[in-house]
Amino acid sequence: MAESFLTDEEYENWFSDLGGMRKRVAHALPVRPGMRILDLACGYGYFTAELARLDRSIHVTAIDLREYDVERAQETALERGVGPRVKALAMDATAMTFEDNMFDLVANFGGLEDIHMTRGEDGVKATFQEAARVLRPEAGFCFTAVPPEQARTPAQRLETEVFSFICGATWLTEARYKDMLGQAGFELEDRQVYTTGRKLTPKQAKKEMRFACDKVPEYYGIKTRSFDEAWARFGPEIQKHGLGQFSRMVLFRTAGTADS
Ligand SMILES: C[S@@+](CC[C@H](N)C(=O)[O-])C[C@H]1O[C@@H](n2cnc3c(N)ncnc32)[C@H](O)[C@@H]1O
Repeated sequence: MAESFLTDEEYENWFSDLGGMRKRVAHALPVRPGMRILDLACGYGYFTAELARLDRSIHVTAIDLREYDVERAQETALERGVGPRVKALAMDATAMTFEDNMFDLVANFGGLEDIHMTRGEDGVKATFQEAARVLRPEAGFCFTAVPPEQARTPAQRLETEVFSFICGATWLTEARYKDMLGQAGFELEDRQVYTTGRKLTPKQAKKEMRFACDKVPEYYGIKTRSFDEAWARFGPEIQKHGLGQFSRMVLFRTAGTADS
């Protein structure tokens, strides 16, 4: 599939909308009126707001490890007109402080790579177990990921390689996520692929890579590779192909846990 480069103007606000991808994913979730939804690793709350917009009776709790992201998520909810129905909290997805059986749906859009960065592969596994624990019996868990073997273009493949190399923000294979779902008691109902058809130019890619190299140590206390090292390794390919940014994501939808 051909992907076109973002213009620099589009790039400025691209991540907040991703060409409507979050909205499309939110509309594919098994949401019903009155649901209490948990959004994991909410970042600035762009997906959280899409969830809350699905129905005026829905309440969304959003969590992220970083206090600053949580504040931004609450602001995004206000800006997008869903503030009163969103509650953003600082919490580690691998060790949540919620009671058991509290939510009707656990959702996540991107972020499992960052949970890998902060808590490793065991942390991703723990997140799935925690999702099962906080969901009411028979309720589902839906998340989007970028399994590396699912890349269909060099730019998509590079996205998974570059940030794993820089800071351990690693996407796992689809088979590994499926294993983890099974271990947490979920049954995979189906998967769907979402694409943006867009990618970053080399200049935009450099900006994202520098950001990761500079900010990950500051935000999370995690040591990264230097930008120069990362560019020496991936620069020539990025110059040729550009870099994906959530350009192709797989949505995994599960049925509920058997006996959570
Ligand atoms: C790619 S961003 C999330 C994107 C967001 N869902 C959206 O729709 O824009 C990943 C987030 O994961 C958060 N994160 C990393 N480790 C975490 C953990 N252990 N628990 C909760 N959040 C975590 C980061 O702080 C970051 O905000």
